[in-house]
Order: sequence, then C-alpha cells, then structure tokens
Amino acid sequence: MAQPTYHIACLPGDGIGPEVTRGAVTVLQAAAAAYGFRLEFSEHLVGGAAYDAAGTPFPDETRDACDRADAILFGAVGGPRYEGLPWDLRPEAGLLAIRKRYDLYANLRPILLYPPLKDASPLKNEIIGGGVDFIIVRELVGGIYFGEPRGIETLPDGTRRGVNTEVYTDAEIARIARMGFEIARGRRRRLTSVDKGNVLEAGKLWRTVVDEVAREFPDVEVEHLLADNAAMQILRRPGDFDVMLASNLFGDFLSDEAAMLTGSIGLLPSASLGAARNRFGLPKGFYEPIHGSAPDIAGQDRANPLAAILCGAMLLRHSLGREDAARAVEQAVAAVLEEGLRTADITVPGTAVLGTAAMARAVADRVH
Ligand code: IPM
Ligand code: MG
Repeated sequence: MAQPTYHIACLPGDGIGPEVTRGAVTVLQAAAAAYGFRLEFSEHLVGGAAYDAAGTPFPDETRDACDRADAILFGAVGGPRYEGLPWDLRPEAGLLAIRKRYDLYANLRPILLYPPLKDASPLKNEIIGGGVDFIIVRELVGGIYFGEPRGIETLPDGTRRGVNTEVYTDAEIARIARMGFEIARGRRRRLTSVDKGNVLEAGKLWRTVVDEVAREFPDVEVEHLLADNAAMQILRRPGDFDVMLASNLFGDFLSDEAAMLTGSIGLLPSASLGAARNRFGLPKGFYEPIHGSAPDIAGQDRANPLAAILCGAMLLRHSLGREDAARAVEQAVAAVLEEGLRTADITVPGTAVLGTAAMARAVADRVH
C-alpha cells in the first residue's frame, strides 16, 4: 500500500522560532525517510512577522493553510518591538486566535528530566535524583486568558482600570479533567489537580467538577493542591507527580517553573489538542515549544532546537499516529544527550557546545 503524505502547516513566527522550527523540520524529514512516509511542509506567517508583512498576527492566508493541514508546527511569537501594539494586533493574539479557532482545549506539557542533564538542573541531586517524569495538562481556551469583560478603561475621574475575568463553566472543566484522567490511565494513575478554590469561586467549581469526573476513573488516585502550594511542591517533591491538571493561567506559570527541573526550558515541547480531527481521523494538533521567542539570542544559531524537535515527536504521535517514528525521534534526542552533545543553555564544563543547526543535524543523524 502506498504510504500517505501528511500536510504540515509550519508557522515559524518570531525570534528564535524560525531557527528551531527549521531544526524540527530537518529531524521530521529524517524520520519520514526512515519510516517510509512523506511529509509536506508549507510555511506561513504568524505573530510579529505576520504583523510586519500583513498588518495582522494571524493573516487569512495562514488561517486557510491551518484549516487544510493535518497538523500545525509552531515556533514562537513576540518581541519587544510589538509590545506597544493594541492587544488584538500583538503577536500573542495570533497564537491565542489559533488556540481558539481549533478549540485546542488540552495543552499537554511533558516535564521529563533526561538523566545526563541532572547537573544542568539548578535543583540539587537529592531532589531530582530519583527522576522527574510528569505531564502538565493545561486548559488552553478558557479562564482568564479569554474571560469577558476584559480591557483597560478610563473612568470619568481619570482613573484607569485594567480588567480580566477568570471564568470556567462545568463543561469546560469536565472535558479537560477527563483528558487528564485518560492520560493518567496510560501512565502511573495519579492525578494532581491545581486550583485556588480557597479564594476564587472558579477554583472552587474546578475542584468540585474534578471530583465529579474522578468518579468515572476510580482506578486513578486524585490529589488536590492549591496553586501556590503546587508551585512549592514542584520544587520539593517533583518525582511524586504523574499528571498535573491546571487551568490556563496556573498551567502557564507552573510549566515554566517545572521546566527548570529539566535543566532548560529549551527542552520542553507541548501539544495542543481538541475535538478537531484531520484527514486521518486523528487530532488536528498544534505543536509549540514551551519557550518563547528569546529575542536576545535570535538569529545567532545559539538556541536549543530540542524543544521544537520534541514537538515534532509529539506531532508524529498524536496527529499522524506514527508512534514508531515518534519514539525514534525521542530516542535520538536521548542519544545526543547521552553522548554529551549540548547547546549553550544546557552546557557544563567539559561538554561540546553545538549551535542550533548542528544540534538538529546530530539528532536527525541518529533517527533510525
Ligand atoms: C505559553 C506562552 C503563551 C501563553 C504566551 C506567548 C501567550 O507563555 O504558551 O506558555 O501565555 O500561553
Ligand atoms: Mg508560558
């Protein structure tokens, strides 16, 4: 039977986005060659780059390409040049528009410490030595990121007031909770749900609904943590966590914090999934490194492409159903780290430092 051709919309964006995405494409092409399928990439503008060229962070052309694609590979958006723009023209608004358009409510952020990187983590060996392997399941299209009312208003007396709204319905909580429990079933069957129910009503409802959904999953052990305490426990007992379920805002904070357990935020991929399906009946996913556009090192071939490359692995797994190729990419990443190859963000004295392109090539060469 002829092997299928998969269509990937590639949205490099701003800052280091283009160089790390290029690295991911190199590795994905190596995986396609090794596993006998075809990948077709088309490149489109998003974020600040799109604003510069087309006056909007999510142009119609990009939208149409994403509509047609089987999966979307994203780099990063944002930069100091765009900070003064009105909210709907800012690069981040383009990213949020995509998340909303495809109702990508589940953002999966695996937090995995590769053993050779123990010394790159700022945490002591006695804390991370037993291993860190959990996944943050972040709600992505609700909460304070999208709640109304929002805005900055000026009152008659001249006082300026910034307003955002944390809001969740029971259905929104239930679907992300269900996703978290399903994922826990495929792992160590422990779910830690994070909320701020001691102060916020939306958090109180969050906890109630998670407990309701938990009844469908009696085989999964549930723990509730207040968000501030969760931030502390991540540093105290990171090895205990399996699935951490969080709202949009808390998931954003906690994933940056958890990234540091692994040595560098430059290592962490994410997958955003929803109900939308591609031509193969699989989730039409959106794959985005957790790191941002890092304008300070953009264009210097210094960025770590491993997060983007691992996004490629998640894309193969979730949107293309190519578990074999996904594992091969992940094993190739583990292999380069075992061999002591490092980018500048994870280097320790005595290891070779590679640039972005050379690191991607090294991973691609080890995909088999
Ligand atoms: C992330 C990022 C985004 C977010 C920004 C760029 C809008 O920090 O994906 O974690 O806050 O969701
Ligand atoms: Mg973030």
